[in-house]
Amino acid sequence: MFHERNGLPGEIVDLNQLQTAPQSVGRPVILPAVTYRVVVAASGRGSNLLALGDALAGSHEAKIVAVLSDRDALVLEAARRRQWPTVRLLNPADPLEMATALRACRADLLVLAGYLRLIPGEVVAEWRGRIINIHPALLPRHGGAGMYGRRVHAAVLAAGDRVSGATVHLVDEAFDRGEILAQGTVPVLPADSPDDLAARVLDVEHRLLPAAVLAAAKHGSPVAFTFD
Ligand code: GRF
Repeated sequence: MFHERNGLPGEIVDLNQLQTAPQSVGRPVILPAVTYRVVVAASGRGSNLLALGDALAGSHEAKIVAVLSDRDALVLEAARRRQWPTVRLLNPADPLEMATALRACRADLLVLAGYLRLIPGEVVAEWRGRIINIHPALLPRHGGAGMYGRRVHAAVLAAGDRVSGATVHLVDEAFDRGEILAQGTVPVLPADSPDDLAARVLDVEHRLLPAAVLAAAKHGSPVAFTFD
């Protein structure tokens, strides 16, 4: 993988050589610049955003460059506290508004972390293969329009499922339908309420989403991976 070298725009360096080359005394160590730029879109409180930020802190591989929301959500306040630039979309159905924000951020990856709107088709087309979503169930079960938050966990319990979990998948034109990249599972216990199950799944989400972003950064684009 080739990256721009710090301080020398336009120069490229082979990361594999950088990591294996013996360092000679007196020569500055040149670290590769962060090149994988992650934009997070969310509509809620933003615990997945914060877990991702914690996992990427100090990382040379990826960083959060902006946080978008379709509403005045708590996630925007959380983002400001971490000094991440925020964008409050005025019309989330407008492809130009979202595309302009992503281009301005020079986004490599758009992560949907509890984002409750459909991504406009034009944006999906321009960023196809570079948008991922995290869903709090084992897709293809319990996904689709209207399946978010507590409703998902209530549906899992109503179906009598013995296992649930979280899914990271590519985003296409429909809710929760794109190619599955990885899943993490949790048991469903007989006495679970939807909130009990949500808490157990959320813990997995907080590990699965960073793993997906780091895998994408290493690979150069979102990629399927195994998660335990
Ligand atoms: C998570 O369960 C996520 O999987 C779903 O929405 C919820 C967002 O939670 N898509 P938070 O705002 O990250 O705490």
